[in-house]
Amino acid sequence: MTLKSLTYTSLARLDLAAADLEAIHRTAQGINALEGITGLLVFNGTHFLQIIEGAPQAIDELVGRLRRDSRHSGFEVRDDRLVEERSFATWSMELVRVSGSYFEARDTVTERLPPTVQREVRERVIRMTEAISGTVSL
Ligand SMILES: Cc1cc2nc3c(=O)[nH]c(=O)nc-3n(C[C@H](O)[C@H](O)[C@H](O)COP(=O)(O)O)c2cc1C
Repeated sequence: MTLKSLTYTSLARLDLAAADLEAIHRTAQGINALEGITGLLVFNGTHFLQIIEGAPQAIDELVGRLRRDSRHSGFEVRDDRLVEERSFATWSMELVRVSGSYFEARDTVTERLPPTVQREVRERVIRMTEAISGTVSL
């Protein structure tokens, strides 16, 4: 089955609290399990980086909900492609909290990625982690 894999970055609402992040994570895991969506959510204290993968219609509907969600802004699609296989098959939504410093963030994210993840996906995650770390302009 052809799946859609979409990568975006966004800016967390300024007053986002730890409880809000937990609520986002819990909701994401619950809905994604029902919708057949899997993926990765990286949060560095100010920005989100998320990869969502699933049936194209389910992904499009989720993107619609994400764009309306006031807990973040500046929603920007960074990559949008059709894939044959999932990169995060066992993760209904894995939350990876990382440091605001790029080098630490890169190491944390790299450690957490499944060892089987394709090189292209690994490189994209690292590139986008750099983008949200402010070492390159967004
Ligand atoms: C950074 C971030 C990531 C999110 N990830 C997901 C997700 O993976 N799946 C999901 O169903 N909702 C996710 N949500 C929540 C959705 O934006 C939305 O609130 C939720 O799907 C419920 O839809 P509703 O608000 O229209 O009822 C996320 C929200 C934020 C701010």
